[in-house]
Amino acid sequence: MNSVTRLGIVGCGLMGSGIAEVAARSGLDVRVAEATTDAVEAGRRRITASFDRGVRRGKLTEEERDEALTHLSFSHDLADLADRQLVIEAVAENRDIKTDVLRALDKAVEDPAAILATNTSSIPIVDLAVATERPGQLIGMHFFNPVPVQRLVELIPALTTTQETVQRTRDFAAQLGKHAIQAADRSGFVVNALLVPYLLSAVRMAESGTAHPEDIDKGMELGCAHPMGPLRLLDLIGLDTAQAIAESMYEEYKEPLYAPPTLLRRMVAAGHLGRKSGRGFYTYEG
Ligand code: 3HC
Repeated sequence: MNSVTRLGIVGCGLMGSGIAEVAARSGLDVRVAEATTDAVEAGRRRITASFDRGVRRGKLTEEERDEALTHLSFSHDLADLADRQLVIEAVAENRDIKTDVLRALDKAVEDPAAILATNTSSIPIVDLAVATERPGQLIGMHFFNPVPVQRLVELIPALTTTQETVQRTRDFAAQLGKHAIQAADRSGFVVNALLVPYLLSAVRMAESGTAHPEDIDKGMELGCAHPMGPLRLLDLIGLDTAQAIAESMYEEYKEPLYAPPTLLRRMVAAGHLGRKSGRGFYTYEG
């Protein structure tokens, strides 16, 4: 089976830019689409800054960075993804937005055998698949943050996804140097189904005054060797994203442990979204 050489990515936020960075470094021809020219420029800056950081830390040479940047192109028009063999949608974790983007992509991408992958973390894949004219070629491909660092990708076939699509996407994950695991189309898949109740429990612990956020985090970092504690990790993921994931999981399972705690809702309402807004459980500069 032909390997993917022309990749499209829709959305250049935290996840989309990370996927673009990894794919460009793997030598793929990567075209990134964003909704507006401002969003395109922000995405380009995010990716370039990450490459520059890699150079400063000795992860790649200046030549490798420049070479990787030649593999990247940007557009604010989905029509520019017409010739792509695989497109990953990495827009906001919102069912309506994702459905609209995938429908538009379905029309824009010319090859009917091309794969549309969604990076959703919690929306049922089948709902997104049947919204398109190619439910056999739509699959969940869930990356982890920061994408250049985390080696895992979850593959989530919907009931409609063909075996050929699963195999081609698995081969594509290997091209990116990622380890793929497969999960059924159940909200949260493997990792978030285990991780999210833990993160929400940490918020409830802070809310009830059992311990200070710093002590909750240190408990898990020094007691269990986690690279970061749960509240710091929530700041990295984004509190709005975490709330959206929890809501989808609660809708599916109706288990109280998935319900977003009041403190999380209030912080999101206040715009305290974590690193990306400069303030969450901690404050961030720059
Ligand atoms: N891009 C590229 N490389 C990065 C990076 C980025 N954005 N952020 C960190 N790195 C690299 C650094 O270059 C460094 O590499 P080196 O050790 O070879 O020099 C290494 O990662 C460690 O980075 P730092 O020294 O800057 O910082 P830390 O040691 O504190 O590590 C961390 C930062 C990698 C974020 C680490 O704390 C970590 O792995 N945390 C857990 C993250 C996690 O659990 N992610 C999953 C979230 S769940 C998810 O994404 C699913 C979604 O649906 C919610």
